[in-house]
Amino acid sequence: MNQAFGPGPALRGTLVPPSDKSLSHRAALLGAMSAVPVHVTNFLSSEDTRASLRAVRALGARVERADAGLVIRGPGLRAATPGAHIDVGNAGTLLRLLPGWLAGQPAGGSWTLDGDASIRRRPVDRIAVPLAAMGARLDAREGRFAPFTVRSRPLHGTTYALPVASAQIKSCVLLAGLLAEGTTTVVEPEPSRDHTERLLTRAGAGLVRDGERVSVAGADALALEAIHVPGDPSSAAFHAAAAVLVPGSRLRIEGMAANWTRVGFFRILRRMGAVLGGELEERATAAADREPLCVLEVEHGPLAGTRVTAGEVPLAIDELPLVALLGCFAEGETVVEGAQELRLKESDRIATVVDGLRGLGADIEATADGFSVRGTGGLRGGTLDAHGDHRLAMLGAVAGLASRDGVEVLAMEAAAVSYPGFAADLVKLTG
Ligand code: S3P
Repeated sequence: MNQAFGPGPALRGTLVPPSDKSLSHRAALLGAMSAVPVHVTNFLSSEDTRASLRAVRALGARVERADAGLVIRGPGLRAATPGAHIDVGNAGTLLRLLPGWLAGQPAGGSWTLDGDASIRRRPVDRIAVPLAAMGARLDAREGRFAPFTVRSRPLHGTTYALPVASAQIKSCVLLAGLLAEGTTTVVEPEPSRDHTERLLTRAGAGLVRDGERVSVAGADALALEAIHVPGDPSSAAFHAAAAVLVPGSRLRIEGMAANWTRVGFFRILRRMGAVLGGELEERATAAADREPLCVLEVEHGPLAGTRVTAGEVPLAIDELPLVALLGCFAEGETVVEGAQELRLKESDRIATVVDGLRGLGADIEATADGFSVRGTGGLRGGTLDAHGDHRLAMLGAVAGLASRDGVEVLAMEAAAVSYPGFAADLVKLTG
């Protein structure tokens, strides 16, 4: 489905962003691993997170609607039903986290994971290597792609230094660590989102954080209480960016996650000079086990170019395409570096963002590990192909609102992967 956006009008009113995708995946998985039923409120209903619910059902969990939410009654930590073929759809987080749980099931089980064309391009050697070091076995197409089979075996703890800051790899190894003999430690080059650590702490797992090291001990059982999923900062970022770019806009965002490992984009926005009121979490303590919420106020205003460096990248990874768009309107140059991971997302987001925005008139160049944009104060508009990537589809829509001639987004339906109500929310805010 192609859809035309903009230019203008201004965004006004209040946005309650859709529920957080990262946390919804984790609520489904850890809910199924819990020994007691888990009540989840505000679970995201999107294509990606429905794939996680289907997966845990195939592994023996019962998922029922109850009290304005879901109740997940799982098989528990060590009783996942063997033999299932699991289709993760487009969900990279499910693809990378689930094998951690499966690898440590009682020996002799096997499961096959596969997904759509984009999933088949996304490497899984990044989880196969640490899982193998723990004694697990994962047989993948060409050694590194889906479809692949996980075969359960007895696991032992390990210390694994992540070659890249990735919450998906970290979470996979920590989940396997729950099922391993001894202690498992992950060492991160830079901090990445810490939802798994917070949930495991709440579930009574022996999780210890010490600087860049996170350790978990083998556990007999997990017991999670209720989980409330906050609003998704990665989704709210699109409307926030639109409000900053479209003259006359003023937007309030309510119920958004304020977790410091997720709001790097909003810090970058502030640094670029955007008028942004509200409290974001400061660096959390090692014992953090809750997800704080915030209310933000965003207004249209001028922007200055900025440099986003490697340490900031994991804290804003999914919002970096928006930094490129904001850079088109900013005074001076905007550079993102240390972001080579973008090449391994739902699309090669360095190539698709640079080609997409250049097609709309941007002065932007790809680099090996990011991009650089020279602000020209505006964007002409035109056509942008989403390439099946939800964040690219929404980027095109925001670019359209801010552009001179508007943007037609090709394959806008990709937005439903994380934000099925994206276009409807935009109509509400601009109506
Ligand atoms: C996610 C982690 C990030 C992010 C993805 C969701 C998660 O991926 O890009 O959208 O839920 O853990 P990496 O950990 O591979 O950087």
